[in-house]
Amino acid sequence: MTSSVDFFQVIEERRSVKAYDASHKMNKEDIVDLLEVTQKAPSSWNLQQWKFFVIDEQDQKDKLLSIAYGQKQVVESSVTIAILGDLEANKNAEIIYGEALAQGRISSEIKDRLVGQINGAYSNAQVARDEAFLNASLAGMQLMLAARAKGYDTCPMGGFNKQAFVEQFEIPSRYVPVMLVVVGKAAKPGYPSSRFSIDDVTVWNQF
Ligand SMILES: Cc1cc2nc3c(=O)[nH]c(=O)nc-3n(C[C@H](O)[C@H](O)[C@H](O)COP(=O)(O)O)c2cc1C
Repeated sequence: MTSSVDFFQVIEERRSVKAYDASHKMNKEDIVDLLEVTQKAPSSWNLQQWKFFVIDEQDQKDKLLSIAYGQKQVVESSVTIAILGDLEANKNAEIIYGEALAQGRISSEIKDRLVGQINGAYSNAQVARDEAFLNASLAGMQLMLAARAKGYDTCPMGGFNKQAFVEQFEIPSRYVPVMLVVVGKAAKPGYPSSRFSIDDVTVWNQF
């Protein structure tokens, strides 16, 4: 489903919303629609180093409250989507490039070279972790913009106990929690926030 919304308005309107209408529910179809857009985010080698762990049942949401240090948006929003980074995304390489080969988009030499390059890179645990965080974060941003474009509000959250989260929800060791994104309908608007000027955050050509 596509609809026409102004991209720049979406950017301007996105706020980290903390207070949600707890009576608002999103059904599975709404959530899948959002994830379909999110899934189009770019990723290194197109390995899609993310997994979306969707928490929309009330008893599961309740378990999140103490893990997120009492931040109520995890229980009041419609759904929390935990963006997990995939530490073993090199395992996706055969699938992704096998498909590209089958569709005639690449040769078998190119496929083998890419898969070898990826497995080489992933033999370094720090690279695997950096890639997981980098790419999963892009998906997180895409999720927030997609949600806003569809009329929902969001809040990205890094303020949660990662170890407790992994234990509570039995997250397999292949995945690392990167951020939670709560999605729902605002009960109160997000707080205004400011940004540094472009001059403050930009260096042209040379430090
Ligand atoms: C990685 C990350 C972690 C964040 N963690 C939290 C959090 O735990 N709780 C919260 O209320 N907001 C959290 N925020 C929201 C920021 O406070 C917010 O993005 C920032 O103040 C700018 O406001 P805006 O998003 O409304 O423009 C987080 C944002 C990011 C990007």
